[in-house]
Amino acid sequence: MVLPGTPNGDSRVKGGSTAMTHDNSAAHKGAPDNGAPYERPPRPSRLSVLELQRRKERGERWAMLTSYDQLTAGIFEAAGVDVLLVGDSAANNVLGYPDTVSITVDEMLPLVRAVVRGSERALVIADLPFGSYQTSPQQTLETSVRFMKEAGAQAVKFEGGVQIAEHTRAVVAAGIPVMGHVGFTPQSVYRLGGYRVQGRGDDADRIVDDALALQAAGAFAVVLEMVPAELAKRVTAELSIPTVGVGAGPDCDAHVLVWTDMAGFGSGHTPKFVKPYADLRAVLFDAAHRYADDVVSGRYPDGAHSYN
Ligand code: KIV
Repeated sequence: MVLPGTPNGDSRVKGGSTAMTHDNSAAHKGAPDNGAPYERPPRPSRLSVLELQRRKERGERWAMLTSYDQLTAGIFEAAGVDVLLVGDSAANNVLGYPDTVSITVDEMLPLVRAVVRGSERALVIADLPFGSYQTSPQQTLETSVRFMKEAGAQAVKFEGGVQIAEHTRAVVAAGIPVMGHVGFTPQSVYRLGGYRVQGRGDDADRIVDDALALQAAGAFAVVLEMVPAELAKRVTAELSIPTVGVGAGPDCDAHVLVWTDMAGFGSGHTPKFVKPYADLRAVLFDAAHRYADDVVSGRYPDGAHSYN
């Protein structure tokens, strides 16, 4: 199925940014040179972290969404979302935990695999869950390797600034791209005393130092979560790598939302920074309600939906 806006060979320009391009060269297709009667399937060409760096240098913005399954991965990629984050927000959004602290590596691995299988060109980033990397750089590397080898992720993300810089260095040294995450870090929600904006007033320098430490350690990008817009603008100007804002105002190089928030699945309190682009909760509720009603009343299945 080809959805509107599919990236197949088309170079879409959004807000000044050029979306992913696909290398269709014969070399890339692995054209046989030994007379073999078949052609190897083309190796999927995914967006690289180098391309994201070039976009920063060209002033081109890009969109990132969370995804936890093959269905949304394929739709989001076709819609022009170039980077898919298999966030530990799967804890709340898929597995029904009250926070992101509870989810484990073994629960995350199948979700990352599904997103990798469901996409071809997007860069897929695996979020390391709480407790799977903080102990030591060695632990961070071992967990990152699992997501790369066992799930096919192309990069990892983990939370923390200065205190996690050595861990970042170890993972990058092993050849794995790392996205940092500073500002509000949901895995520290209990230490931070709730979902609070970080980096206000005198605390701003701490966020800048965290982001700079991650850049110095080799991170390819840094998420800035729930920080004042002015601070995000300052960090974005000071860093040579891309910033990815979530609740960080308009001036970051890229932006990310949890997809269920973006699509209007939120229930209860919606944070100020979330803009729902649909009301999928209502759409799905209505469809399921009408289906159940039809089944109960005998309207479905009818003759039109039955075999002769
Ligand atoms: O897990 C997640 O969804 C995240 C994003 C909000 C950045 O870390």
